[in-house]
Amino acid sequence: MLLFALPPHERLARAIARALHARFGRIERRVFSDGERYVRPVTPVRDERVVVIANTGPESDVLLDFLILLHALRSSGARSVMLVIPYLAYARQDRSDQPQAPVTINLLARLLEAAGATSAVLVDPHSPVAARSFRIPVRVVDPLPVLAHAIVQHQMLNKKHRVLNKTSVIVAPDAGARHRAQRLASLLGTRDVVVLRKGRPRPNVARVAALTSADRRRIASRPAILVDDMIDTAGTITAAAQRLREAGASHIAIIATHAVLSGPALARLRRARVDHIIVSDSLALPPRAHRLPLRVVSLTTALAAEIRTVHRK
Ligand code: R5P
Repeated sequence: MLLFALPPHERLARAIARALHARFGRIERRVFSDGERYVRPVTPVRDERVVVIANTGPESDVLLDFLILLHALRSSGARSVMLVIPYLAYARQDRSDQPQAPVTINLLARLLEAAGATSAVLVDPHSPVAARSFRIPVRVVDPLPVLAHAIVQHQMLNKKHRVLNKTSVIVAPDAGARHRAQRLASLLGTRDVVVLRKGRPRPNVARVAALTSADRRRIASRPAILVDDMIDTAGTITAAAQRLREAGASHIAIIATHAVLSGPALARLRRARVDHIIVSDSLALPPRAHRLPLRVVSLTTALAAEIRTVHRK
């Protein structure tokens, strides 16, 4: 097996390669003066079973480099090309909610397939629709057990700042996160799940409705753990945290797979003054993110296990 990786995943890929005793391939990348991009696999790939670890965005150059690399691998005779996509950008564009609105995840899947992908491993791709957009075999990695384990470990080290005990409430910031919250509750051995109500008056703006008096009573003086698939502008998670604070939560922690952290996210998270934020390494974090009470959990073990399973088939 031969692994290649595009930024920001070289470190993750090297760790996976070590775990799998696989070789790590070299890539040459260039940007010409006019902005055109060039991505060449340097390590020979003829007849190799290749794995490529890369995201599909959010920046469009990231996607373009991915497509160019895939095409070069297949044109150079790679026997198969398995994609490992820690962050599947465009997974939120999975339905047509207005006349003639693009379902861009379908386009993305066709592009990756046309460029040469023969199978894919996705990490927590927003909704099951994203995985179904592909025609090649797809497997989905659920990082929630690893993230839940991180919060348990954190509690052991930081007994003073407990966000996890028998009275903790797991909170979904919107209806879409309900099942995730229920799964986290069962992983952490807690029972209580509260689902908040979120509206989006316009793109990138999140409003979380005031809690019912029954939910306020469930939150008061208890630690709350908010869980979502991603923190993008942090509008959703900080509006939810604000509601929990108003309801008297004793501590607030956030668990999310993907730390997109775009636009106002860092400022919003700083203002929200939550106690812990646990995310995976599916994306590179902006440097200032490290000033937040942030713990980054590596996907190495989960991805290595999945690649090994697919490879054995
Ligand atoms: C929405 O359906 C997602 O699950 C996230 O809640 C959302 O994408 C987070 O975005 P933001 O951080 O910009 O509110």
